[in-house]
Amino acid sequence: MAGVAPLRYRLHTMAERPILIISGTNRPNSNALRIAKILAANYERLGVAHEIFSLAELPKEIFDGSAYANKPPAMVALQQRVLEAIGLHIITPEYNGSFPGVLKYFIDMLKFPESFEHKPVAFVGEAAGVWGGLRAVEQLQQIFSYRNAHILPDRVFMPGVGTKFDGTGKLTDVAIEERLAKQCERFARYAPHVSGPHLPQ
Ligand SMILES: Cc1cc2nc3c(=O)[nH]c(=O)nc-3n(C[C@H](O)[C@H](O)[C@H](O)COP(=O)(O)O)c2cc1C
Repeated sequence: MAGVAPLRYRLHTMAERPILIISGTNRPNSNALRIAKILAANYERLGVAHEIFSLAELPKEIFDGSAYANKPPAMVALQQRVLEAIGLHIITPEYNGSFPGVLKYFIDMLKFPESFEHKPVAFVGEAAGVWGGLRAVEQLQQIFSYRNAHILPDRVFMPGVGTKFDGTGKLTDVAIEERLAKQCERFARYAPHVSGPHLPQ
């Protein structure tokens, strides 16, 4: 079928290099982390290697200004996870008309340029308001474009996010559930195609 990677190549690549799902806030009990778990379940169904990293797990030592020059060991390990990931699937809430400051700080802690150069990236926005994180995602797109990332065109926005989950963390909005599932399918195909050194010769 046109547009679909040969299965053998796709599974080989994905088995070696996971998609890193990044929950883009350190706020406890965040909706971003709830969404990260939904994305992880989608990748699980697809048989695609994946990991979740929540910014709530950021090493505390990086919040000392000395971390710009000297990365603590936990940040070095995290840096490696970013480099090894075949793609980054980022969930961002909207805070004050933008993405969370801690997400920018995380980006600033990662190596330039190799962390995002030709790195496939997908975005989910979520917010209490009606724009569903549109501003947060579009501002992130500006940064990732500057950093020469390959951005999946299909973005998902979740307005009124506080009303979208039941008590068990299950999504109650079928349309958004379908959009997230489709986005994962597309990113699973897109990431191995566009990640430079892994393109077939
Ligand atoms: C610091 C802060 C700023 C916020 N600013 C906005 C905003 O500008 N627009 C909006 O729609 N919601 C805003 N909200 C509400 C969040 O979008 C909402 O609480 C969302 O669930 C936060 O995502 P999280 O649960 O992943 O942290 C803000 C929340 C916080 C904590």
